[in-house]
Amino acid sequence: MVLKTSVEVELKVNGSLRKAKVNVYTTLAELLREKFGLTGTKLGCNRGECGACTVVMDGKPVYSCMVLAVDADGSEVLTVEGLSAGEGLHPLQKLFIEHDALQCGYCTPGFLMSLTALFQSREKITLEDIKHSVAGVVCRCGAHPNILRAAAEYAGLR
Ligand code: FES
Ligand code: FES
Repeated sequence: MVLKTSVEVELKVNGSLRKAKVNVYTTLAELLREKFGLTGTKLGCNRGECGACTVVMDGKPVYSCMVLAVDADGSEVLTVEGLSAGEGLHPLQKLFIEHDALQCGYCTPGFLMSLTALFQSREKITLEDIKHSVAGVVCRCGAHPNILRAAAEYAGLR
């Protein structure tokens, strides 16, 4: 028996259909970064602990390092590159800057995408919802309080 180790996947990424041939063990994070050049999705721990690789998949936040590319076949994925409108930053990104909600910025895409999944899920958002939504993302620079401030202001502005 010959084992098939390479398969073609097709998914919608940031609104565009993308195809690639991947190994069966390729993760969604590797697919996004290495095949599609979307390096805004960061790899920190690569084992489901830090949240830096979070993207929105079919409306839900996922650790893209823990999702196999073959399991993302046919899904719709939003990465941090898909957040901004044209050349401009998304209002939530602008609030991150205004509130000094990052230092090195490595965790930022993970926070932005976790919050995006929350904000897309419903209209009324509480501070508790915000805290819960980012509980799986770690900021080693300690920007959490400012991240929460930026997200809370955004929740009030929408
Ligand atoms: S890189 Fe995926 S959770 Fe850390
Ligand atoms: S800003 Fe550096 S890890 Fe969060």
